[in-house]
Amino acid sequence: MCGIVGMVGDRDAVPVLIEGLKRLEYRGYDSAGLAVLHENDVALRRAVGRLSALESELAAHPLSGSIGIGHTRWATHGEASVRNCHPHAAAEGRLALVHNGIIENYQELKKDLTAKGILFSSDTDTEVLAATIADCQQDGADLLEALRCALSKARGAYALGLLSLDAPETLYAARLGSPLIVGKGSSGYFIASDVPAILPQVDEVIYLEDGEIARLTPAGVEIWNLAGEAQVLKWVKVEMEESAVDAGGFETFMLKEIHEQTRVLRGLMERYVMDGQIVLPELNMSVGHIRTLQRMMIVSCGTAYYAAMYGRLLIENYTSIAVETDLGSEFRYRSPKIQPGTLVATVSQSGETADTLASVQMAKGAGCPILTICNVFGSSLVRESDHLIYTHAGPEIGVASTKAFTAQLMCFVFLTLYLAEARGELTAETREELLAELQRIPTAIHRVLENKEHIRKIAEQHHDGPSSLYLGRRYNYPMALEGALKNKEISYQHAEGYAAGEMKHGPIALINESLPVICICTETEDEVAEKMISNVREVQARSGRIIAIATEGDTRLDDITEDIIFVPRICECMSPLVNVVALQLLAYYAAQARGTDIDKPRNLAKSVTVE
Ligand code: F6R
Repeated sequence: MCGIVGMVGDRDAVPVLIEGLKRLEYRGYDSAGLAVLHENDVALRRAVGRLSALESELAAHPLSGSIGIGHTRWATHGEASVRNCHPHAAAEGRLALVHNGIIENYQELKKDLTAKGILFSSDTDTEVLAATIADCQQDGADLLEALRCALSKARGAYALGLLSLDAPETLYAARLGSPLIVGKGSSGYFIASDVPAILPQVDEVIYLEDGEIARLTPAGVEIWNLAGEAQVLKWVKVEMEESAVDAGGFETFMLKEIHEQTRVLRGLMERYVMDGQIVLPELNMSVGHIRTLQRMMIVSCGTAYYAAMYGRLLIENYTSIAVETDLGSEFRYRSPKIQPGTLVATVSQSGETADTLASVQMAKGAGCPILTICNVFGSSLVRESDHLIYTHAGPEIGVASTKAFTAQLMCFVFLTLYLAEARGELTAETREELLAELQRIPTAIHRVLENKEHIRKIAEQHHDGPSSLYLGRRYNYPMALEGALKNKEISYQHAEGYAAGEMKHGPIALINESLPVICICTETEDEVAEKMISNVREVQARSGRIIAIATEGDTRLDDITEDIIFVPRICECMSPLVNVVALQLLAYYAAQARGTDIDKPRNLAKSVTVE
């Protein structure tokens, strides 16, 4: 959601900014722009739509300059139009600002500025912040003081990049609640929303802390807090490989990331399972603490919420801890009865999701310890947390989450085993059985990937209707929700995930010969297995187009449907890690058949940093 890149260096910034913006495309955007200090002017180029529109604008009106800022905008305040595009100018065009986040009191600030005769050309909160900086400068402040003064007036969240004719060798950056990094490399100093954006340019980065302001010049970087106190520069070496952020020969990042799941999950096991024991180095939770845990609340959004639902089932099955789950956007606006000792856990790929972050801050306020399962080092959620498990899935560029999700599921398996063991609630036999099963997951996923042509054919047969229904039970109920979400996100076909047992309470009315119903039937052993088959028969009786995911060798569906995706036999509690890969592929090929932009689905942002 909105991406920022900036550079001060010894060569033309424009191609670097364009490349950085391309690397930020995955975050989601509907317009883009850049500003450079060019021939004693702050020159802006902005365009609505894909970056190619901005490139055409630059081809028609070329620019160059060694100091610049760029932005991809995902519209919040004001429609996607050129006048609302960033950068926003102020001080009669002497300064330009790019911003990610929301200035909540911008209407108030705008009223005061309008009363002083300042005119606005956009609907954005960002232009108001730019004008506030310019207004603070009017009182004779230098740019750094003016920026600090403006930020002290602003309420809300921001990551920003600022350049001005009044400081021609300088780029300013600041963050509060939205991610921003500073980087250094052989050709200069950089700012960006994330490391991949400037990966080819930098060797080391600093993750700015909330409330920090950075000044970048060709001579180096200085950082202060909002009170004006100089901060120690904490440079971190960049370990990420370029291959982690290119599509590696796959037609899309999403397909690459679906295929990466075997490697990611193997890597996670190598990292967290040692000599038959779970070792979670960043969990940092004493056995004494674990033994006192009675309640746990897991808060997250979207796909990560379905991982939380799965985590709840596992933890409640193998420990005596009572677990609840909630969506960040709901949790923060209700009155949850969380006692100070309740462990509040979050799950997040980005670590920046605004609603999850706000929920954590609320839980911290109530005296709860925070555990986060996260993919991004140094992210806001990570900083807020006492206990951590990293998912180590590597950068996820496809907007629809795949490898980060299965890594989250596996981390819940590790957490469950760790908690159960520490509480003395796990027998050695169960631990060994579960670990042995876990070891089989990557190979099982590999088998699903080998079957992708079959999955593609099924997707192509059923992609054309207006809607589809996904059914599952127990551990596979969250996977039904996830399968439906994947389908909606990338193929734009309406899809609904349902607990199969709930079908009779409403959605059964939808079933007719044109509705694809995707049934996850991999349970084969207990009453849930039987109930699921009964549900499938209910769909059959109403002529629904059944697509089943079933265990290899299971013949129970032979007389029901021909469209079966067989997956290797895995115990029920871990079957979601394999089943969801089939669902990802099903959504993928449906989207391909429908001709959508799979890596950048319309209206979606990879990291939802505003409410
Ligand atoms: C769906 C998807 C989103 C995210 C959600 C939370 O494919 O990616 O639903 O899961 O926006 O994001 P994170 O995990 O970054 O907190």
